[in-house]
Amino acid sequence: MGAGRGPARGLRASVAGDGAAPRTREKPWPAKDLFGFRPLHPIQMPLSATAPADPVVQSVANAGLGSTICWGLREVHKYHTPLDLVRERSPERPVAFARPDAVALAARWFQENFKGDVFYAVKANPSPWVIETLAANGVRSFDVASLPEVELVSQLVPGARMAFMHPVKNRRAISSAYFDHGVRTFALDTHEELAKILDATGQAADLNLIVRLGVSAEGAAYSLAGKFGVDAYEAPELLLAARRATNELMGVSFHVGSQCMRPTAFQAAMTQASRALVRAGVFADVVDVGGGFPSVYPGMVPPSLAEYMDSIDRGFAEMMVHETTELWCEPGRALVAESSSVLTAVELRKGDALYLNDGSYGSLFDATHTKWPFPVKLIRREADGSTREVDGPLKPYRFYGPTCDSLDHMPGPFWLPEDVREGDYVEIGMLGAYGVAMNTRFNGFGDTETVVVNDPPMASMFGLAPRAIPVPRSESQNVVKLSRARGKKRRRR
Ligand SMILES: Cc1ncc(COP(=O)(O)O)c(C=O)c1O
Repeated sequence: MGAGRGPARGLRASVAGDGAAPRTREKPWPAKDLFGFRPLHPIQMPLSATAPADPVVQSVANAGLGSTICWGLREVHKYHTPLDLVRERSPERPVAFARPDAVALAARWFQENFKGDVFYAVKANPSPWVIETLAANGVRSFDVASLPEVELVSQLVPGARMAFMHPVKNRRAISSAYFDHGVRTFALDTHEELAKILDATGQAADLNLIVRLGVSAEGAAYSLAGKFGVDAYEAPELLLAARRATNELMGVSFHVGSQCMRPTAFQAAMTQASRALVRAGVFADVVDVGGGFPSVYPGMVPPSLAEYMDSIDRGFAEMMVHETTELWCEPGRALVAESSSVLTAVELRKGDALYLNDGSYGSLFDATHTKWPFPVKLIRREADGSTREVDGPLKPYRFYGPTCDSLDHMPGPFWLPEDVREGDYVEIGMLGAYGVAMNTRFNGFGDTETVVVNDPPMASMFGLAPRAIPVPRSESQNVVKLSRARGKKRRRR
């Protein structure tokens, strides 16, 4: 039973990225900062707006992969902390803070603790600084889900190993990924998609075909079940068809759901995968356990990531696989969540409602649609220019974003000092995954600047900050809880 990290058996070397790497220049970077943070390497900074924009990065930016992808188009500034930025600049548009050290640490942790190949799920945050930092720290495999993501990775990490893991792909995207970018690994969950992949690659004989299985998403904050994944009844026939379609790698993948709070979900999914393989009578060359590794948000304190690795090790040890079977994972959130926060300005206060210059059409999609109460800090610049983080007794607030849409509302509760006022800044933490990447230009907003800082994130799975964010309880929440408890008692009688 081989769980070892090995060379890609039978996998053709990627020919990705024959284009030149982006032009870069180095900026001065402190050997060690106030917080004892030591960057591993000076970050290669793409040239500023005065240089012609790189056409691939430009086209990816236009394809809507998030505003931070515009990194290659602009000068990027560095500050030690968000406070320094506010003191110097009093920014009028939202600012996304990038913490490359946090990404580097997470990358190294996964490389050292996952006993297989780590594919970064680009969708979580396609910012070039993220991709380049991951690559510089050993993560050179990428889970891509669209042609612009393929092009982006080809451009930024020439020779990267890419797996096109979206189970439903456009024919042109498959062809271009295969012929222009050397992608050989494709996911599928239907016979129709298998036929499409074969057709779009000219019946290629060197494909790695990964069958996405539907598994239970219990224990995950976001279920990814339902939309993708072949069910247990139909899986054996599809596995057999994929096995027959390639002489290269045939594998299984699944996704236990994003922000999975239960480590044992991985082992359980691997047991399900094993059953499907046994029923099909085939061995898998690849077992891809997907993403789902959690980060820290208010009210969500995940078990340590080591417990997830243990669960995967146990699951893999129990699977019927070859000695040479490769183990893969596709983390998105866990690698980047803690690396970014966003600085928003308070445009107006109406009671407990704060009107901010960023919202659900910007970086706060999850704060609206899944009502996540992200952690917040209040920053104030006084008339004399001094800047401080405001503390004092906290009260719960709700936020409204800058657009005219009433959906642009984040209920929170977000706990901030009682005297928040117009002109204050709210730093919203833990927005590195599916936060800054979700930005749109709706209603003329969304122009966000990216700035590098090296203060610690608000919470961390990797020891940079506490692994829990305390949630104060409001009186109204207590009332709801009490009345629910009473209701339960009555029913029991
Ligand atoms: C196929 C696939 N792999 C990996 C991921 C990353 O998941 P996470 O960010 O929960 O780690 C996703 C997220 O949607 C996905 O669809």
